[in-house]
Amino acid sequence: MLPVIVVHGGAGHVPKDRADLSSVGVRDAVRAGYAILQAGGSAMDAVVETVTLLENNPVYNAGRGSDLNVKGEVEMDALVMDGRTLASGSVSAVRRVANPVQLARLVMEKTNHLCLTAEGASKFARAMGVPEVPEESLITDYARMRWKKNLQPDANPVECQIGKMGTVGAVAVDKEGNTACATSTGGLINQMEGRVGDTPSVGCGGYADNLIGAVSTTGHGEAIMKVTLSRLILFHMEQGKSPQEASDLALEYMKERVNGLGGVVVVDLKGTWAARFSSLQMVWAAAQQDQLHYGLYHGEDFIEPICV
Ligand code: GLY
Repeated sequence: MLPVIVVHGGAGHVPKDRADLSSVGVRDAVRAGYAILQAGGSAMDAVVETVTLLENNPVYNAGRGSDLNVKGEVEMDALVMDGRTLASGSVSAVRRVANPVQLARLVMEKTNHLCLTAEGASKFARAMGVPEVPEESLITDYARMRWKKNLQPDANPVECQIGKMGTVGAVAVDKEGNTACATSTGGLINQMEGRVGDTPSVGCGGYADNLIGAVSTTGHGEAIMKVTLSRLILFHMEQGKSPQEASDLALEYMKERVNGLGGVVVVDLKGTWAARFSSLQMVWAAAQQDQLHYGLYHGEDFIEPICV
């Protein structure tokens, strides 16, 4: 099997002054994930490493750089899923960890549960020896500026959401033909304390099944949950649609049915991949057959060689 990995850095509108940084970040992350796959590493290792890099990059709304809730605090969600067994792990509304995606993997591997939330997730992190980081280390000036702006009486929260929905995620198929997905987010800007979106919910923020393929989503979580976007795409693929056709059908349905915008990265078992979105932009990158593909606007597919 020729391995493949596809990454997104969020659907929405990327401000001009952040477009280059956003694109470089997903390209660097996808190269790192692809190197793992080329060396014979698992799809799960590749997606977790890729999303970890994106969480560490302050450009995205995940890990460091997360959007702030209405109280100006960071609450993060993350999910992983292993297509071999349908094993999954997630954390929601978790605070003071640098890499929620790694904690989600520990939930999958070290507990009998699928999701741990809030203080319970933090306690589990401590029990697993995951270092607690100061909340300040996760907050960027940009996130604080947007939070403050959105507290103004004349703020337009909808405009603000469209301005940045930078959830991050990755899907991969490894040399053995195993699939995996990982997704991570700081949620919606100025969301209510305790609000949990689509990201940590299996079938919404992501899904991986070795019988079909894998999906990771980004966009407005409430809309994504209403249509269980990831599983809906895989359902269409089970009915014979390609990753691109299935993604377009599901994104169109989400727009028509619940007025929701978003984006997805998808792979199938043959290594066919898609990066599709109904928002104005989605920063994405894909690596396969030593080629790197990337784009930001609809219709873009820039290609360059990857030297591994
Ligand atoms: N899709 C991320 C969120 O709505 O939280």
